Amino acid sequence: MVDRTYDVVLYGASGFVGRQTVQYFATHAPANLRWAIAGRNPQKLEAVRAKVGVWVDVLVADSADQAAVDAIAAQTRVMLTTAGPFALYANTLVDACVRHNTHYVDITGEIPWVKTLIDRYHAQAAATCTRIIPCCGFDSVPSDLGTYLVVRTMQRDWGTDCQDVKAYFQAYGGLNGGTLASAVNLYDSTDTDQFNDPFLLNPPEFRTQGQSSPQWEANRDPQSPTFAPDLNTWAAPFFMGPVNTRIVRRSSALYEQWQEPYGPNFTYQEYFKLDEPFSWVKAAGVTAGLGVFMGMLQQPALRSLMQPLLPQPGSGPSEQTMNEGWFICEVMGTSSDGRKARGIIRDQGDPGNRATVKFVCESALSLALHSHELPGGPTRGGILTPATGLGDVLAERLRQTGMTLSVTLN
Ligand SMILES: NC(=O)c1ccc[n+]([C@@H]2O[C@H](COP(=O)([O-])OP(=O)(O)OC[C@H]3O[C@@H](n4cnc5c(N)ncnc54)[C@H](OP(=O)(O)O)[C@@H]3O)[C@@H](O)[C@H]2O)c1
Repeated sequence: MVDRTYDVVLYGASGFVGRQTVQYFATHAPANLRWAIAGRNPQKLEAVRAKVGVWVDVLVADSADQAAVDAIAAQTRVMLTTAGPFALYANTLVDACVRHNTHYVDITGEIPWVKTLIDRYHAQAAATCTRIIPCCGFDSVPSDLGTYLVVRTMQRDWGTDCQDVKAYFQAYGGLNGGTLASAVNLYDSTDTDQFNDPFLLNPPEFRTQGQSSPQWEANRDPQSPTFAPDLNTWAAPFFMGPVNTRIVRRSSALYEQWQEPYGPNFTYQEYFKLDEPFSWVKAAGVTAGLGVFMGMLQQPALRSLMQPLLPQPGSGPSEQTMNEGWFICEVMGTSSDGRKARGIIRDQGDPGNRATVKFVCESALSLALHSHELPGGPTRGGILTPATGLGDVLAERLRQTGMTLSVTLN
């Protein structure tokens, strides 16, 4: 891949998140990095380039034009895409990246679509050592990397496996029109039974069949407020939990397949943490509100009533909201001999934009700049996760940006 024209191409660069990836690269990419921006509309791309004030190349391809997408994939070592819904606009990109041996990252949270990628491309990408890594945004880097760091710290410092991890989120930020469009497309185009499978993304030999099995029961998505004894407060189901948990379980299953397991019968779950006072009342309110919102989103008639009130594709929160946003992810691990570890991932900035842009751009830079240090070495490939495809390299790059990623053993 050394003879490629570019190290990284930012596809979807004219979208709401895409524009922020261009700004991020303009500010943070090393001066000698060869990068370009890409998308379907040359005028919009030129305008982004002029606004940011970077004179990188502009490459044009509608995602429906496989030949044009191929021409871009063949010229770069790494493809970063933010053009979503990904089930609509990223199939040709992944297909081209797998055939041209181009590493790939995105910010999807569309788990049923990730399942189709695994079925179609995992074996081929593994055979050609191509790293295809979806879910490198706020979904699911804090969950997946946080769990990986807690488990590996326990194993290294205590010599014990991990039995269980629970992640508790708190966050403040805004909502993007593109995120809503992706959620709507998901509900309209997918067999919703898939959402209930906690092991949807696991390799076949690690998929637990049967909803009454103890493994399924232990990993079922929470539906009601839960008391969190580790934090001495109440928590609600986290709305991104059904996405993030599937990614963490895939990481655990892949590492087990590679003889580096997290621990026997490892379980993972996540929640939205509420602070005292009245944390139970708040958790009940969040649970009820989430149920109503998700219910309305899934019903086309009800959805059409609320859609005009919500942000449209191409739009998102104000600069002020994005700058004032923040998130904290507390990752509580229990070792197989009952000891406790606590991981923290925390940063200033709106999770869906500032944090997501940092996560996905640093993921692409990890692939472009640290190819010899990545987990699994040069022979690893497939439809991977942030923890299996980027691991400690991404964690260290994120720390260098000022983000907190730490683990304390009790
Ligand atoms: N993981 C996370 O935490 C996270 C956070 C935020 C967003 N997201 C996801 O990221 C995606 C983008 O969000 P956003 O707010 O940036 O949405 P957006 O502003 O609506 O951007 C969508 C992008 O897709 C492009 N596009 C549409 N049709 C295309 C086609 N046929 N060929 C090529 N490109 C096409 C658009 O191009 P034009 O500019 O030419 O219209 C635009 O660049 C969504 O799927 C959202 O769910 C994930």
